[in-house]
Amino acid sequence: MPALTFDLLATDPASHARRGRLTLNHGVVQTPIFMPVGTYGTVKGVMPRSLHDMGAQIILGNTFHLWMRPGLDVMQSFGGLHGFEQWDKPILTDSGGFQVWSLGAMRKITEEGVHFQSPVNGDKLFMSPEVSMQIQTILNSDIVMQLDECTPYETNGHNTTEAEARQSMEMSRRWALRSQAEFERLGNPNALFGIVQGGMFKHLRQESLEALVEMDFPGYAVGGVSVGEPKDEMLDIMAHTPHRLPAHKPRYLMGVGTPEDLVQGVAEGVDMFDCVMPTRNARNGTIFTRYGDLKIRNARHKTDHQPIDTTCSCYACAGSPGADGAGLSWDQGGRAGFSRAYLHHLDRCGEMLGPMLTTIHNLHYYLNLMQEIRDALDAGTFAQFRLRFQQDRARGV
Ligand code: GUN
Ligand code: ZN
Repeated sequence: MPALTFDLLATDPASHARRGRLTLNHGVVQTPIFMPVGTYGTVKGVMPRSLHDMGAQIILGNTFHLWMRPGLDVMQSFGGLHGFEQWDKPILTDSGGFQVWSLGAMRKITEEGVHFQSPVNGDKLFMSPEVSMQIQTILNSDIVMQLDECTPYETNGHNTTEAEARQSMEMSRRWALRSQAEFERLGNPNALFGIVQGGMFKHLRQESLEALVEMDFPGYAVGGVSVGEPKDEMLDIMAHTPHRLPAHKPRYLMGVGTPEDLVQGVAEGVDMFDCVMPTRNARNGTIFTRYGDLKIRNARHKTDHQPIDTTCSCYACAGSPGADGAGLSWDQGGRAGFSRAYLHHLDRCGEMLGPMLTTIHNLHYYLNLMQEIRDALDAGTFAQFRLRFQQDRARGV
C-alpha cells in the first residue's frame, strides 16, 4: 500500500477548483478540506469525539511543541501521536520550521539548522531537517512536512528584499533535499510534503515549485503566506502558485485563513487548509456564521434569545435532542440549542463552557463550509455556490 493516493473526482471548468479523495495510512480524506489545528496534541477545548461528530477528517499536530512537551520518550511509548491523543483518523504534523521561526529573538538560523533556547525550560536545542524527520517519524503522522524556513514579509524592519527571499527560498530547497533523504533513511511509512517558499516574488515561487516538483513529493504545500503581508499580496500568491503544482497531487495552503480565503483558495486550486482562526477566535468571542461574523462580547447580545446561526446544525446552535437534558425547547419557536444571551453570559463570567461551545460552532462552520464546497463541486454548481456564499456573508448577522 502506498502511504498516499490522491484521486481527482471532479474539476470546475470555470476555475482551478477540484474535488478529490486523499487516502492516507489512517483513512480517507475528502477534499477540499479544512484541518483543525491541534498544536499540543489537542484541538483546544474540543473532545476528539466532538471532532468526529462534526465531521473532522484530519487534524494537525506540531512537531516543535510535542518535542518540547511531553517529549519524545513519552511519544515513543505510545507508538506515536494517534494513541496518545486518542484520534484514530489521519494527522498532519507541521515540521517546526514555522514555530521555531516564530520564536523571534530566541533563535539563530544557520544552513545546518536552527539553534534556539527552549521556551519551556531554557535548554539549548537544535532543530535540523534531520531532527524534524526523526521526531515526525516517532509521531507517526500520516503527512509529514519538510523543515523549511518561512520567509517573513519584513526583515529587520524593511520589506524582505528579493535577495533575502531568494536566500531563504534556496535554503528551504536544500532543507527539502535533506528532509527527503532522512525521511527515506528512516523508512518512515507515511507521506512527506515539500513546501514552496519564495516570499512575495512570483519568479522565486516558480523556481521553488519547479525544484520541489523535480523531487517528486507525494504532495505539496504553499508556505510563507499570512506572514504579515497585505491581503492583496496574499491573494496574489494564492492566485499564482497552487494551480501550477502537479494536478494529480494534493495541494496544501498553510495557515489560511478566513471563510472568504478558503472559498477563494479552492477556486485557485487548493485542496487542503489549516488555520487557528476558528479555534482562536472562538476563545476570544468572535464567531463565524453564514451571514457574517458575530462578537459575542457585544452588549447587544445580553438578552438575545436567538441561537448563533439558525442554519447551523452544531451542538451549540441546535442542541442534541435527548442527551443530558439538552433538546429542551425554551421558546415559542420550539428551539433547542444555546442562545446568544447564554453564550454572552458564559463569556462575561469566564466560564469554560463558553469557549467550548463557540469552538464547536466555529469548527463546525468551517467544516460544513468545506462540505458545501465539495457538494457544489460534485453537483457542478461551484460558481453559483460562490455567489451565494458572498451574498450571504455580506448580509450581516
Ligand atoms: N504554517 C504557516 N506557514 C508556514 C510555513 O511557511 N511553513 C511551515 N512549516 N508552516 C507554516
Ligand atoms: Zn453552530
